[in-house]
Amino acid sequence: MKKIVVFTGAGISAESGVQTFRDSNGLWRTHRFEEVASPNAWDSDPDLVLEFYNIRRKQLLEVEPNPAHLALVKLEEKYEVQIITQNVDDLHERAGSTNILHLHGEIRKARSTRNQSLIYDIDGWELKRGDKCELGSQLRPHVVWFGESVDQIGPAAEIVGTADIFLVIGTSLVVYPAAGLINYAPDNSAKYLVDPKASRLSGIPNLNIIMEKAGKGVPELVGQLMNQDTESNPS
Ligand code: OAD
Repeated sequence: MKKIVVFTGAGISAESGVQTFRDSNGLWRTHRFEEVASPNAWDSDPDLVLEFYNIRRKQLLEVEPNPAHLALVKLEEKYEVQIITQNVDDLHERAGSTNILHLHGEIRKARSTRNQSLIYDIDGWELKRGDKCELGSQLRPHVVWFGESVDQIGPAAEIVGTADIFLVIGTSLVVYPAAGLINYAPDNSAKYLVDPKASRLSGIPNLNIIMEKAGKGVPELVGQLMNQDTESNPS
């Protein structure tokens, strides 16, 4: 079975109603990330940080996966599929994809501020001051903040290195180390990018650029891939 690795960013969830970060209506146009998504912000104003993520978690509970998330599930009928997402939402999971690696964490989870391996599902939308882990320490959102390490980047790079087909969907590719993953795709892999503003990324060699919104471009691309021969090439 051929392997498809799918690397997604905020753009795949935009048509579900989740704000991206850097588009004209993006989150970082109205919030300074240093004030809501950094260790310093947590130290100086944890209530503001909790509120920022509570609002986003509440909004997430009100939206649904869109045709792009759903189309990626279909690929599993013919391919080994691994999704690597920068998104903290759970729309790939709710669509039904089975192999999902979250590079930047998951907003519907909380983790201990004393032991980061203690991770808990958040019941509902609210994480409050006084919500504690089993060691008695305050819980924080299970997301990677600016200035923190991206622990999953090594495993993600290894996965990208095994791709026969590499899909990049809805990401500005400006945040590292995530943006560097594209460099790990094997030279002979087929590479596709679906993003309506993809033209600024045309410098990447051998990239098939589909300048469409994900809700249209991804189902079309999946349709093409489902019609392709899935046997590995004889070597
Ligand atoms: P950005 O907001 O930087 O980029 C969103 C991308 O989605 C842009 O390239 C848009 O052109 C594209 N886009 C918008 N609408 C789309 C649609 N309907 N279909 C397809 N593409 C669309 O978001 P990311 O690249 O995901 O990190 O941002 C990367 C990281 O920066 C995030 O994970 C987050 C943020 O700071 C952390 O919080 C650690």
